[in-house]
Amino acid sequence: MPGLPLIIDCDPGVDDAVALLLALAVPERLDVLAITTVAGNVGGDLTARNACLLREMAGRAGIPVFAGQDRPLVRDPVVADHFHGVTGLGDLPVQPPARGPEPEPAVDHLVRVLRARPAGEITLAVTGPMTNLAEALRRAPDIAPRIRQVVAMGGARREGGNITASAEFNIHADPDAADIVARSGVELVLLGLDVTHQVTATPARRARLSGLESPQAVAVRQLLDFSARTEAEIGMGGPPPMHDPCVILWLLAPGLFRLRSCHLAIETRSPLTLGHTAVEFRTSDRHPQNALWGIEADADGAFDLICDLLERYP
Ligand code: BDR
Ligand code: CA
Repeated sequence: MPGLPLIIDCDPGVDDAVALLLALAVPERLDVLAITTVAGNVGGDLTARNACLLREMAGRAGIPVFAGQDRPLVRDPVVADHFHGVTGLGDLPVQPPARGPEPEPAVDHLVRVLRARPAGEITLAVTGPMTNLAEALRRAPDIAPRIRQVVAMGGARREGGNITASAEFNIHADPDAADIVARSGVELVLLGLDVTHQVTATPARRARLSGLESPQAVAVRQLLDFSARTEAEIGMGGPPPMHDPCVILWLLAPGLFRLRSCHLAIETRSPLTLGHTAVEFRTSDRHPQNALWGIEADADGAFDLICDLLERYP
């Protein structure tokens, strides 16, 4: 059976980089048609460059990269380079990629490919602010029912927030975009801090990677070591959460996660709680279901899968 047709929309970013290396390890299961990039953790020129480097690192140089929106829909950019390093890739060595992004902008590409391919075929994995998808939906609302599913990392309910006390970075960085996506009618799976804070790269779990010697596994180790240091120095102090990899893990093994259907609304006005995800499990006519919300993850199972995926690299 061919792999799931997938577009990965991301802002690499240390954990986006891990997510990409995991996704690109299994072409027979995930048919990555394209990588689209957006400004987020670092500026848009850097996230596009990093995606080009990562596809080369994964030995998948043929996957096209499309650079996307270089700022949020209506607000000033918010970056997280204190968590991802000035290059966005922690302390991985960075050089110019052999080939850059395609000339077509990411939003144009999303609209074109979603209209061209059969309805319900393409899944979107979104691991950055939702600016590209929201802009595509704004320009071409007809694409919404053509998307099979959007699986995104974003938001928090039980866990409060990470960039502010009440908001998670991806949603806070472009709340207006997340609001458009939440209201669009697309089938949305949201894996936020409530689950990603359960899937942490503890020292024992990181040690499981130490036997793997492929360049890709070595790069993942280096990325996780970097995150472990930044979490200890400026984060919550615990082991680094595997935020964006959860999206890829869910696509490959949804049984690792428990989800609940909910009504999701995004705070777009209050300066104090901007980007807060209001998640209501008591759905009703006034608050209809518009998302599946991650509530629980099997962290050891997730790490087993991470190891399996990295073992695929020769
Ligand atoms: C999310 O924010 C970014 O910094 C990470 O790459 C991840 O997508 C976690 O809140
Ligand atoms: Ca990200």
